[in-house]
Amino acid sequence: MAIHWFPGHMNSTRNAINERMKAGLDVVIEMLDARCPGSSANPLLAKLTEGKPTLKLLNKQDLADPERTTRWLAHYNAQPDTRAIGLDASNRAPAQALIKACRELAPLRGGMVKPVRVLICGIPNVGKSTLINTLASKRAAKTGDEPGITKLEQKIVLAEDFYLFDTPGMLWPRISVEESGYNLAASGAIGRNAFDEEEVALELLSYLRRDYAQALIERYKLGDISALNDEDLLGAIGKRRGAVLSGGRINMQKAAEVLIYEFRQNILGRITLETPEEFMQWQAKAELAEAERKLKAEKRKQKTKTPQRGGPTVAAVADEDQESDGSDSGDQDDQDDQGDEVSTEAEGVDTPQVSDLGADTHEQVRPASAPDGA
Ligand code: G4P
Repeated sequence: MAIHWFPGHMNSTRNAINERMKAGLDVVIEMLDARCPGSSANPLLAKLTEGKPTLKLLNKQDLADPERTTRWLAHYNAQPDTRAIGLDASNRAPAQALIKACRELAPLRGGMVKPVRVLICGIPNVGKSTLINTLASKRAAKTGDEPGITKLEQKIVLAEDFYLFDTPGMLWPRISVEESGYNLAASGAIGRNAFDEEEVALELLSYLRRDYAQALIERYKLGDISALNDEDLLGAIGKRRGAVLSGGRINMQKAAEVLIYEFRQNILGRITLETPEEFMQWQAKAELAEAERKLKAEKRKQKTKTPQRGGPTVAAVADEDQESDGSDSGDQDDQDDQGDEVSTEAEGVDTPQVSDLGADTHEQVRPASAPDGA
């Protein structure tokens, strides 16, 4: 799925995390959306904080399927140097559980001389501000910046010997697991103008009819849905919810909006869009596709650079021309690769900050080339 956003915050957040790694870090708290834990885990964060014990906070568990949350927690708790706990905004005193889990992950730290230093990260809209506000107002004092540490970082003292460092929400530039793109869009991590709602609704529907068919049937008072394809099913939902144009045609855009809205608001019940096993399969498939894509790009590059008998090929000449004026070959795969490693030189560019704006304001940072209504 094409997602049109520019993750403007990425470089500055990445620098903030790098600085925290250098300054001293004992535990990383990664906030995940309990409705799509695998998809809401930022692969960049794992790379940046490699080797550090991790506490996975599965937030918004009040919206997620409890049986699946249990499975995800067991999945993470079985991993080395990892703890996982479920959380939701109704938890009035999350600090205690959080501090306890982090202390277990850093048993050699503690006391005034060796305070536990914890970094908290998460994608936009995962509920980090809500949690920080709860922590800050109940138990902690927010303090100013530490000398030498980026202004983006906020230090929250949760106990005398327990510091929490907050960083801005961060998305990553290219979502290689296709299903993750859909799940992030459906759950609200990606602003509405950055994706096609009908496409996302159809994917959501295809998943729901397989794993949560009863919820759909009950909510939309549908009969046997097995004979309907996904589009017809979305049409039937649209009809039930009054998304009808003049002449009786179904307004599919409206139907898609209704389905996504009702999923997000829990009107369909507590739903989780992936199991650990499913996510691992998607990931393996994406890794394979990625390796093939890179191999193809490499082969293409080699081909254009191999001189033919009797002189260079047209492509090779074109390549040389481009090199001489310093421009890029324009290969889409090359461009994608660059997307993974956006130069930190872009830092100085005055870019709107995705997480400051909130997920629903991503359209303000989408490239001008994004199609209308995308
Ligand atoms: P962020 O800092 O990570 O970007 O997220 P933030 O705390 O702003 O939370 C995003 C939305 O999620 C907020 O709703 C917030 O109330 C909701 N939220 C946070 N934690 C939980 C939780 O555990 N359970 C539920 N059900 N909701 C939670 P909002 O202000 O209405 O924004 P939106 O949902 O309309 O985007």
